[in-house]
Amino acid sequence: MGEFGNPDIVEEEVDILIIGGGMAACGAAFECGPWIEQAKAAGQEIKVKLVDKAALDRSGAVAQGLSAINTYLGENDPADYVRYVRGDLMGITREDLVYDVGRHVDDSVWNFEKWGLPIWKQEGDEGKSLKEGGKPVRTGRWQIMINGESYKWIVAEAAKRALGTENIQEHVFIVKLINDKNNPNRNNPNRIAGAAGFSVREDKVYVYRFKACLLVCGGAVNVFRPRSVGEGLGRAWYPVWNAGSTYAMAAEAGAELTLMENRFVPNRFKDGYGPVGAWFLLFKAQSQNAFGEDYQQANYDTLKDHGYDAYSVGLAKMGTCLRNHLMLKELREGRGPIFIDTPAAMAKLAENMTPEQIEHLEAEAWEDFLDMTIAQCGVWASENIEPDKTMSELMPTEPYLLGSHAGCAGLWVSGPGDLPGTPDHYHWGYNRMSTVKGLFTAGDGVGASGHKFSSGSFTEGRIAAKSMVKYVMDNHDLTPELDRPVADIVEEIYQPVRNFLENRDYTTSVDVNPNVITPKNFQSRLQKIMDEYVAGVSTLYQTNAAMLRIAERKLEMLREDAARLCARDRHELLRAWENFHRILTGMAHMKHIQFREETRYPGYYYRADYMKIDDDNWKCFTNSTYDRKTGQWTLKKVQWVGLVSKGDAEAEAMGRPGAKV
Ligand code: FAD
Ligand code: ADX
Repeated sequence: MGEFGNPDIVEEEVDILIIGGGMAACGAAFECGPWIEQAKAAGQEIKVKLVDKAALDRSGAVAQGLSAINTYLGENDPADYVRYVRGDLMGITREDLVYDVGRHVDDSVWNFEKWGLPIWKQEGDEGKSLKEGGKPVRTGRWQIMINGESYKWIVAEAAKRALGTENIQEHVFIVKLINDKNNPNRNNPNRIAGAAGFSVREDKVYVYRFKACLLVCGGAVNVFRPRSVGEGLGRAWYPVWNAGSTYAMAAEAGAELTLMENRFVPNRFKDGYGPVGAWFLLFKAQSQNAFGEDYQQANYDTLKDHGYDAYSVGLAKMGTCLRNHLMLKELREGRGPIFIDTPAAMAKLAENMTPEQIEHLEAEAWEDFLDMTIAQCGVWASENIEPDKTMSELMPTEPYLLGSHAGCAGLWVSGPGDLPGTPDHYHWGYNRMSTVKGLFTAGDGVGASGHKFSSGSFTEGRIAAKSMVKYVMDNHDLTPELDRPVADIVEEIYQPVRNFLENRDYTTSVDVNPNVITPKNFQSRLQKIMDEYVAGVSTLYQTNAAMLRIAERKLEMLREDAARLCARDRHELLRAWENFHRILTGMAHMKHIQFREETRYPGYYYRADYMKIDDDNWKCFTNSTYDRKTGQWTLKKVQWVGLVSKGDAEAEAMGRPGAKV
């Protein structure tokens, strides 16, 4: 039996390793099933394993449940979905990837319903499934309402059925990917051969070898100092599990990242982080400033100031960052707080309702959060807020990095390749494979294609799984060889434990020890740097070249100190490596913001020294690579190519004709 500081080593060889247990991972597990069967019929046995740092039933962003499925096309054309995503993400998206999700996503939603997820239907269609033509209750053009408290359980069950529970390993945190010793060719020296991590429950290090892996560990939370402090610390909108592992491990393995300057700053019910979608779209609530004014209307024309109006889509359908931008103007100029008028919205809805229906509406107002963000109900209850009587404050949160919600940070991946006009640099290999051979991703991992949400991430996991199986079949002779000895990998992973054991007697307090740094202190330093210099909440999301230079120097010094991270127990070992993933993610974010000399995403962040949208120079992707050996980042511009034309539908989605998108 292993013991702390001397773990057992478990080595395992599979064909495909799915790293993560969220929506994309469950989609991949589900999709692998039939393709493995087909491979078996053709005489090839393919072994797939899924490894999650937490428990599959309740891990990832959907853990608490959701109230809506935000991507369901139904009667819509996938090309319109591309136009919508392109508009929301300020013009620069990989339209091939977005289209690919759009054309496949509904099948996933039909499956969710088949597996037991209750989907709200319009009156008269209650007994009819979506697949049979049942009409959903839409909140917006793309979103449908669900009773989704058990959404993740339902999806996890399907993944378990497809792979078999014996092929699902929970509570193992993957720390590193390991490249292949044998380079496939000179131009693409990086091929993936393995991954290593440790159990958070037992003293065991796991080393996996494989031909292909799907890296789907979500995005990144707690890179920035959060708004919550004291007893609320740790409460955030984005889920605690996702610490930037996808971006950091991929970068270390040599994969190209794209649009890492992008972030998501959700506008949320203050302190409880309750989502606003249902309130704005379903309940039709309005927001206002401290003086009861409709600040969006009042500020709309100011979008012209820096050319932001080129991507403004009309007041009613404005993109996510621009909505934030109009709100931030109020906060900056002293007209906050911002309120959401829940009583007026509910009174309006109740106008033609029976008392019974009104009671149901009130229950629904609470259930929206009970289903998804229970902490918001805690805030309402503890502050005596009844949403039908009292308005709530709204507040933009600390920044998160992600690629599946209203953000598009992530890996640069090969697309489907079958859309007319696809350029070569959108398609060089297997669908959703990164620039590292055998390394695939989906969901929050894929960059330049946001607005996938839960259903789109699951779907993208399926797309990736299908092409991974093909990759494995095409490369059945490949024998992965790790580029360094297993003993070295184990030493590397357990370094924080060694640091603690070797230095613990130096002082009487582990927090005050010149030889080591605790994960908590490391995280505080990281969050302070990111917050104060890289456009966090304390500067109202503003930065400039001089601030970024300071951030760069401080982050570099902090990264040096990462070698001194210490862990008193397995839980701190997890915290240590999470923070290592966070600092690499934070560095990528900082470098990209430094590189892109414009303000492409006003309301998410501002380069105060380059406030304009500069399409002449920056209507392009920004891609980066990281050299693990030297610690150097290299950035470049990559050409953006639009594949979906501007159409009438776009003019409609954009809210006004002739929007320059
Ligand atoms: P996730 O589902 O977050 O999965 C990441 C997985 O990786 C987790 O299982 C985690 O445990 C695992 N992991 C992380 N690091 C490691 C590691 N190092 N080793 C091993 N495993 C690791 N979408 C909707 O459609 N409707 C909504 O109403 C909606 N509401 C949302 C509300 C909130 C609060 C949030 C945060 C998101 C919401 N979304 C919604 C978006 C949706 O949840 C995400 O788009 C989707 O979950 C992304 O899927 P993913 O697989 O990329 O990441
Ligand atoms: S959630 O994923 O945490 O529930 P949120 O409530 O912000 O996020 O968004 C849910 C959906 O509603 C997303 O598709 C988002 O783009 C959309 N949405 C939220 N607020 C608005 C708004 N004011 N106008 C248009 N769409 C909105």
